[in-house]
Amino acid sequence: MKRRILVAPSILAADFSRLNREIAALEDSGADMVHIDVMDGHFVPNITIGPPVVRDIRRITKLPLDVHLMIENPSMYIEEFAKAGSDIITVHAESGRDIKGLLSRVKSLGVRAGLSLKPKSGIAMIRDYLDDIDMALIMTVEPGFGGQKFMSDMLPKIRELRGLYSGDIEVDGGIDKDSAARVINAGANVLVAGTYVFKAKDMTEAVKSLRAGGLSGRD
Ligand code: DX5
Ligand code: ZN
Repeated sequence: MKRRILVAPSILAADFSRLNREIAALEDSGADMVHIDVMDGHFVPNITIGPPVVRDIRRITKLPLDVHLMIENPSMYIEEFAKAGSDIITVHAESGRDIKGLLSRVKSLGVRAGLSLKPKSGIAMIRDYLDDIDMALIMTVEPGFGGQKFMSDMLPKIRELRGLYSGDIEVDGGIDKDSAARVINAGANVLVAGTYVFKAKDMTEAVKSLRAGGLSGRD
């Protein structure tokens, strides 16, 4: 089955002093979504973006906001991120015991629900929730920082998940045109890329090259 490849640049690699222009450039580049990495300094050793920034980004773009929560107590903040204008809220399977509750909370707020796995977590951790989610996210680096090297040992995990799940599979971390081809070949169809898109000379070309990764891939 041919799936449309969606590109979701991560603004973690953007220049925050000119975020409005960065988002405008991202829109012009043909990207499909804006990926927003929320980190709390506890779940991951880095602190990034909170609801006020999501709310302000909402005001300046119509692109879907793909909000990736890397925080310790997501249930406390889901409502705030929903109200700030998130279209997708992804929580980590490692971040709470009541995953079903978290997912239904996201959906009850009219937001699509994603569920993510860190590199060391196996598919078993999300298998029971595949009917409850709108997207699965396989981390292809240890979450926390942009600019890390793609972990090719995540490819079998993507392939395993594709065998069980026909919805959107997102990948995040170290994605460039070469790793894009490999993850698409393994079954992913939503590509997050920070450094590769924002540090590119030509953002439009970068987005195009990520999508083109699919051309060399098999289904
Ligand atoms: C890592 C974040 C990623 C990261 C991607 O914890 O979730 O979204 O910013 O950045 P690159 O593409 O630079 O690896
Ligand atoms: Zn992310």
